[in-house]
This record gives sequence, structure tokens and C-alpha cells, in this order.
Amino acid sequence: MVNSPLLVTGGTGTLGGHVLPLLRAAGRDVRVLTRTARPAADGVTYVTGDLLGDEGIDAAVAGVGTVLHLAGGAKGDDVATRNLVRAARRAGVEHLVYISVIGADRLPLGYFRSKLGAEQAVADSGLPYTTLRAAQFHDLALKVATGMAKLPVVPAPGGIRWQPVDSREVAARLVELALDEPAGPVPDLAGPTVYPMAEMVRGYLRASGRRRPMLPVRVPGKVGRAYRAGDNLTLIGAQTGRRTWEDFLAERVG
Ligand SMILES: NC(=O)c1ccc[n+]([C@@H]2O[C@H](COP(=O)([O-])OP(=O)(O)OC[C@H]3O[C@@H](n4cnc5c(N)ncnc54)[C@H](OP(=O)(O)O)[C@@H]3O)[C@@H](O)[C@H]2O)c1
Repeated sequence: MVNSPLLVTGGTGTLGGHVLPLLRAAGRDVRVLTRTARPAADGVTYVTGDLLGDEGIDAAVAGVGTVLHLAGGAKGDDVATRNLVRAARRAGVEHLVYISVIGADRLPLGYFRSKLGAEQAVADSGLPYTTLRAAQFHDLALKVATGMAKLPVVPAPGGIRWQPVDSREVAARLVELALDEPAGPVPDLAGPTVYPMAEMVRGYLRASGRRRPMLPVRVPGKVGRAYRAGDNLTLIGAQTGRRTWEDFLAERVG
């Protein structure tokens, strides 16, 4: 179905906003599934539906060859993905591309567990698929750093590291994967640098011209242990993006 539209779930989100123009530049018709109706624009049509509520998905996947499944939230991505997979099978989708997160199989947190459940739904679907795990986006790191910098004293969780990646690079990789043959699980995509979390926040403080005292804290329990063990990182075997956290801060802050 070379000329059929691609369906992008999550096309209205941060990552989706970078994916859509790349697909259009590649000459593809694009359909987006969203919970909020909106008019067609820039060669993109919008279908209203809700993956979690299992509404409108059949109409969204009808006649589609490739689905880029980027929709996600704090919880329920496993349920949402199972609903999407069922409809995609009924519609005879030829390639399902899924964005997951590094550490999905290791971090004992609800978000990561639901991403793993979603990965499994995709892998077990019987549909040809490609799954990419990415590190946290710079956009999320900025939200976290901004929130922490509002506190009079910034907590500095010991031993926790991030390797944030530029969401534009994740988008470019996903488009490349979507326009290629299904590849199953592909190498993780992480940012070019691993930062202790305190260092990442310090970068934000510097870029925004602020000063805050930092207070070392220890994240307790199995979540703390998993982060300190680096279970949220891929230190070996990942593809790495080129844009650094400092590049992103220079663009967005100050
Ligand atoms: N942010 C990160 O650091 C990071 C790292 C690795 C992987 N990821 C994954 O990358 C994906 C995109 O992340 P993002 O930061 O771009 O997300 P985002 O900006 O928060 O956008 C979420 C998107 O999901 C859609 N969505 C949410 N619930 C839905 C539902 N029930 N039915 C249909 N659509 C729904 C929203 O569409 P409407 O509001 O228009 O309905 C929106 O387009 C997610 O799967 C996320 O887990 C993110």
C-alpha cells in the first residue's frame, strides 16, 4: 500500500509535531488519530478517536499500510496499544512502528511497565513491526529542570544519570524506520552525553542565569536502586544523537 496514507497516533504531540513535516516532505499522505477534532491542514487529515477508550480506531486505520504509534501518556499505554493492535490486525496493516523508552524492561515504575506491555502487544500482534526505544527527550528534561529550579533548594539525587536525546532526532529516526521494511526491535536511541541529574539541572540553571543551592538527596527503595544501577540508560550498543543538552538549552532558554 505504497500510496496509502500513514496513520500517526500521537501526531499532535511533541514527537508527532516533528514527525509530520518529515513524512510530508517524503511525499506521504498523513492521517492523525487525535482525541480532539481539528480540520485538515498541510496535507494532514485528522480522525477523532481515543485509544484508551477504544473509540474511532477502526476508522483511523482503515486503508492504512503503516502506522506510527506515538500516542502515549503517564499510564495505560499497554491498554491503548492492545486496542490499536486489534484494530490494525482487522484492517490488515502492513507495518506497525512503535516508540518505547529505554529501561522499559527494567525500571519498576508504572510508566515503564506500561511501555513494556505495549511493546509486548506490538511484538505479539503477528503484524510486521518495528520498535525503537529512546531515552528521555530534551523537552522532558527541560520540564523536569524547570520544575526543580522553582524550588528554593534544588534536590540533587545522587547516582541518577540521564542521557537526554533531541526529539527531532528521534522523529527523523522513526520516519526512516517507518519508510523502511519492518525490522522488529532496533538499537536504542540515546543522547550523545550521560549527565548526573544534578549536572543536567545545573546546565539549565546556568543557561537561565539562575543560582540555587543544591541539596544531595537519595532516592529510596527499588526505584532508587534501579536508577543508580543505570537501568534507565543504554551505555553500550545504542545509537546516539548529535544534539546535546547544551545545544538545546542554547536554543530554548535564556
Ligand atoms: N517524552 C519523552 O521523554 C519520551 C521518551 C521516550 C519515549 N517517549 C514516548 O514517545 C511518545 C510521544 O511522546 P511525546 O512526549 O511526544 O508525547 P506528548 O507530547 O505528551 O503527546 C502525547 C500524544 O498522545 C496522544 N494521546 C494521548 N492519549 C491518547 C489517547 N487515549 N488516544 C489517542 N491519542 C492519545 C495525544 O493526542 P491528543 O491529545 O491530540 O489526543 C498526543 O498527541 C510516547 O509514547 C512516549 O511514551 C517519550
